[in-house]
Amino acid sequence: MTVKAIVAVDEKWGIGKKNGLLFSIPRDMRFFKEKTMGKTVCMGYNTLLSFPDGKPLKGRKNIVICPEGVKRDDVVVVYTMDEMLSEIKKEDGEVFVIGGAMFYKSMLPYCDEVFVTKVSADGNAEVFYENLDDSASFDCVFESEPIIDGGYEIKFTTYKNKSTSVL
Ligand SMILES: NC(=O)c1ccc[n+]([C@@H]2O[C@H](COP(=O)([O-])OP(=O)(O)OC[C@H]3O[C@@H](n4cnc5c(N)ncnc54)[C@H](OP(=O)(O)O)[C@@H]3O)[C@@H](O)[C@H]2O)c1
Repeated sequence: MTVKAIVAVDEKWGIGKKNGLLFSIPRDMRFFKEKTMGKTVCMGYNTLLSFPDGKPLKGRKNIVICPEGVKRDDVVVVYTMDEMLSEIKKEDGEVFVIGGAMFYKSMLPYCDEVFVTKVSADGNAEVFYENLDDSASFDCVFESEPIIDGGYEIKFTTYKNKSTSVL
């Protein structure tokens, strides 16, 4: 099993506001779907609630770290990071960390790669991803040409972790 994160950031590494995304960019949605379809995705509870009708992503196994007391039968529910890490360890293949801010932060040391879609705009974010350009642990190993979509200029980038923590 390998753990990867996938995130869309604005020019300040902002990722969300009012428990929603900053932008709606079809090319990025398609990229996210292609990367994660058929795989396991893991997330924080607020991210699950931010989906349409609070429903999990179709065609993927959804593991969600929830506050105590939350019961769901449509996702794999865990309540602690220890439980989350042991669920992830059971998986074969790629596991994608899909947000939000709090959960991304806890999982970053375990991610061997992070797929960052960079949007050249200020989305007035309330929550942020760690700035990987300032991180001693991560190198940018791929940057696409700029693409214009949804009224924004975006770039697909990949960062590699030089010191991934073993699960
Ligand atoms: N741009 C992007 O690519 C992207 C992707 C996904 C989400 N987002 C955005 O991110 C925002 C949501 O982020 P968020 O930080 O508010 O929520 P979150 O990480 O999705 O979820 C937080 C919830 O999950 C639990 N949780 C998360 N990490 C935990 C940990 N390490 N240990 C224990 N419990 C944990 C918390 O439980 P407790 O309440 O018990 O603390 C809390 O209830 C939204 O605006 C969303 O749209 C952006």
